[in-house]
Amino acid sequence: MRAARVTRLDGPEAIEVTDIDEPTGDGVVVDVHAAGVAFPDALLTRGLYQYRPDPPFTLGAEIAGVVRSAPQDAHVQAGDRVLGLTMLTGGMAEVALLAPDRLFKLPDNLSFEAGAGVLFNDLTVYFSLAVRGRLQQGETVLVHGAAGGIGTSALRLAPALGASRVIAVVSSEEKGRIATAAGATDVVLADGFKDAVKELTGGRGVDIVVDPVGGDRFTDSLRSLAPAGRLLVIGFTGGEIPTVKVNRLLLNNIDVVGVGWGAWAGRHPGALQEQWAALEELFTSGKLAAPEPEVFPLDDAAAAVASLENRSAKGKVVLRMR
Ligand SMILES: NC(=O)c1ccc[n+]([C@@H]2O[C@H](COP(=O)([O-])OP(=O)(O)OC[C@H]3O[C@@H](n4cnc5c(N)ncnc54)[C@H](OP(=O)(O)O)[C@@H]3O)[C@@H](O)[C@H]2O)c1
Repeated sequence: MRAARVTRLDGPEAIEVTDIDEPTGDGVVVDVHAAGVAFPDALLTRGLYQYRPDPPFTLGAEIAGVVRSAPQDAHVQAGDRVLGLTMLTGGMAEVALLAPDRLFKLPDNLSFEAGAGVLFNDLTVYFSLAVRGRLQQGETVLVHGAAGGIGTSALRLAPALGASRVIAVVSSEEKGRIATAAGATDVVLADGFKDAVKELTGGRGVDIVVDPVGGDRFTDSLRSLAPAGRLLVIGFTGGEIPTVKVNRLLLNNIDVVGVGWGAWAGRHPGALQEQWAALEELFTSGKLAAPEPEVFPLDDAAAAVASLENRSAKGKVVLRMR
């Protein structure tokens, strides 16, 4: 089978698409039709992610495809359309082997390409907003990195979970158009976002900040919160890990809330199934739109992963595997 392989830790450009043996062992064998690309894939190509597999390894944390074979007691069977999580490698291959409890039935109204772009981000964002962020009906949400994978997921999910206004923060007009298409009610540029948000909200600020970027905008994010607001710490694509002067939390009655979806799922059996059940209901009822990913062919895996590192990615990025 063909697979996107990391053979040396020299970044996305060093990814090679080569022939390797199909995986063997216990689990569900899936003919992969599409594989999601996420920021950790870029970090893995440089050995910079918290999980550091030794090369050679196959990239890919999330897939959509068709079950080829499954253990008799599994909840899926041969021929089922599925989406799944490899946690965290092995997905960018024509065939993948997954634990049954990391696989879900793909809703009929989702294509393989949309399905491959769902799990990693939508489960994280669902956990962020509904569980860690305690999103209430009618609240306003500000989303950093809004044209990225986590960002477009937050723009789609926040209204479905009750937010009445979702403000996107982006670095360019072009990314603003991507954010609007994903559901943003308002778009502001990263440069000067604090003042723009104050103006948009009549000086009140927002109830929740979704922050996958971190870096030097963090203090202005805290200043953009309304009283009792929550800032959700999701990632640090901006590079720098910010620090918090905790007097700011006291003065405005605000929270900085950590979101570690993978760590939570790893320690809470059944959490993935519960989170997926909530998302599935939103998809099948039509309350949540499918992602509209930017699709690259498997042969262009290096360019696909590089687009996240070099900041040119447009929304969620997915590889077409066959
Ligand atoms: N905590 C969790 O459980 C969890 C789960 C999944 C992902 N994550 C993390 O969430 C973050 C976002 O992942 P993603 O897949 O959404 O990434 P992505 O698609 O590449 O989006 C990230 C966004 O960050 C912004 N950005 C700002 N400075 C950047 C820089 N120097 N380099 C690259 N991007 C920059 C970009 O928007 P602008 O150009 O518009 O600024 C970009 O659209 C990652 O750190 C990832 O590890 C965390």
